[in-house]
Amino acid sequence: MHTPPSKMKKSLLILWPLFYFSVANTTTTAHAKQLLEFHQLKISRKYVQEKQDPTSIDGTRPSSYKHPINNPREQDRIISLPGQAEVAEFDQYAGYITVDAKSGRALFYYFAEAPQDSLNKPLVLWLNGGPGCSSFGTGAMLELGPFSVRSDNKTLYKKTHAWNRVANMLFVEIPAGVGYSYSNSTSDYYNIGDQRTTHDAYTFLINWLEKFPEYRDRDFFITGESYAGHYIPELANLIISNNRATNAINVKLKGVAIGNADLDDDVTLRALYDYYWMHAMISGKAYRAIQDKCGFNGTYTKDCQNAMDLAYQEKGNVDDYAIYAPTCHDASNPSKLNDSHVFDNWKDSPNTMLPSIKKLISSGTRIWLYSGDQDAVCSVTSTQYVLNILRLPIETAWRPWRIDNEVAGYVVGYRGLVFVTVRGAGHMVPYYQPQRALQLFSSFLEGKLPPE
Ligand SMILES: *[C@@H]1O[C@H](CO)[C@@H](O)[C@H](O)[C@H]1NC(C)=O
Ligand SMILES: *[C@@H]1O[C@H](CO)[C@@H](O)[C@H](O)[C@H]1NC(C)=O
Ligand SMILES: *[C@@H]1O[C@H](CO)[C@@H](O)[C@H](O)[C@H]1NC(C)=O
Ligand SMILES: *[C@@H]1O[C@H](CO)[C@@H](O)[C@H](O)[C@H]1NC(C)=O
Repeated sequence: MHTPPSKMKKSLLILWPLFYFSVANTTTTAHAKQLLEFHQLKISRKYVQEKQDPTSIDGTRPSSYKHPINNPREQDRIISLPGQAEVAEFDQYAGYITVDAKSGRALFYYFAEAPQDSLNKPLVLWLNGGPGCSSFGTGAMLELGPFSVRSDNKTLYKKTHAWNRVANMLFVEIPAGVGYSYSNSTSDYYNIGDQRTTHDAYTFLINWLEKFPEYRDRDFFITGESYAGHYIPELANLIISNNRATNAINVKLKGVAIGNADLDDDVTLRALYDYYWMHAMISGKAYRAIQDKCGFNGTYTKDCQNAMDLAYQEKGNVDDYAIYAPTCHDASNPSKLNDSHVFDNWKDSPNTMLPSIKKLISSGTRIWLYSGDQDAVCSVTSTQYVLNILRLPIETAWRPWRIDNEVAGYVVGYRGLVFVTVRGAGHMVPYYQPQRALQLFSSFLEGKLPPE
């Protein structure tokens, strides 16, 4: 848990204790919880009229993306992870790719190939959100990587529904300052935001493909969740525009899938309270006050903040990221190394990703949005509101999808976008519903709607 930075204004401090109360006692989702705080930080900045101009910051683009590879790939090969008792049956690598040689900035990756027929399986990048969440600690270890840590905190076990069963999975920690990614220039930790994160991720990818040349022509997909609702459309659009540039490396981007995406600040927040109300977590009085006082239009008045405070009080100590999950009392959080720097110093973060999503749709890239339906923060409701705004024509009507005759969620196919829900999943869908998540992921890769 962070302590509020001193620069934060009074308005946020009013909310802070309630946030602390509502999320401090959760464990598995501790990794994801900073998104809620990040929203509050952004709202507080709006409230005190400190809105940043996203175009003025950090717009410089490295003139050349390629860097000399300073260590051979074999040095990145993992013989065995610490605590790994079982034989892996697939190749694993981990290491650094320099993304800015001048400042000494490098991103950490963990790569797990598919155990079978890896040469004929696609390459998939996974990105956690936050900002500040570790794709290795959270994505790979907790959610969908081949191994997880046992309760002894020392040994690993194999996950049955690991995503590398169907793809070669590349987990990258972004930006520098998150997880094991770092910079030798401390100033880099204070000059971060969406733009530099995206450019660094692209630079990473280009140089990683130099190191693993057999993947250069492989079908490539980007997946992730939460605040990666920013990173993924941004990175995908950057890849597409750089692919068009002559003498750039052509990345064979085929599609993106984003889970419980944070796509629009106002929509995400409006949906949070609607979700509370529809799930019987707050009173009619609090809900009406929010309806009366909050326009969810970018301006958050004191009256609106008070109404939101009341709602937080009323909903009690429920895990917002998985409302029906038991709350635990383990504050351990190995995946949040240095995240307070990342989080507090974030410079540019567009309030809405809808223009970016529309641009991506028009490129013809496969886009799937999926939602665990027990997450209040980046709720299924917020994604449905976004879909209402996008007004895409429906191609396949809303229907349940199933595994073993049981309804696993619902799916609707729009022109240019597929929306899938996962029943009984919190914010981190593969953690809560591993079998459903793997089925969803396989269907996405095949470009087929999940089974009826
Ligand atoms: C950071 O500095 C260390 C120590 O000088 C050096 O070994 C390392 O290569 C540097 N990292 C990058 C990405 O340049
Ligand atoms: C594992 O780590 C957590 C957090 O540090 C701790 O609470 C728990 O007791 C540890 N479990 C064991 C078996 O050591
Ligand atoms: C935004 O919402 C607030 C609260 O409902 C309202 O007072 C304000 O006029 C709205 N602003 C705009 C620009 O619509
Ligand atoms: C990041 O965390 C590490 C480990 O706690 C610490 O040694 C380092 O100084 C931190 N970096 C910054 C910029 O605070």
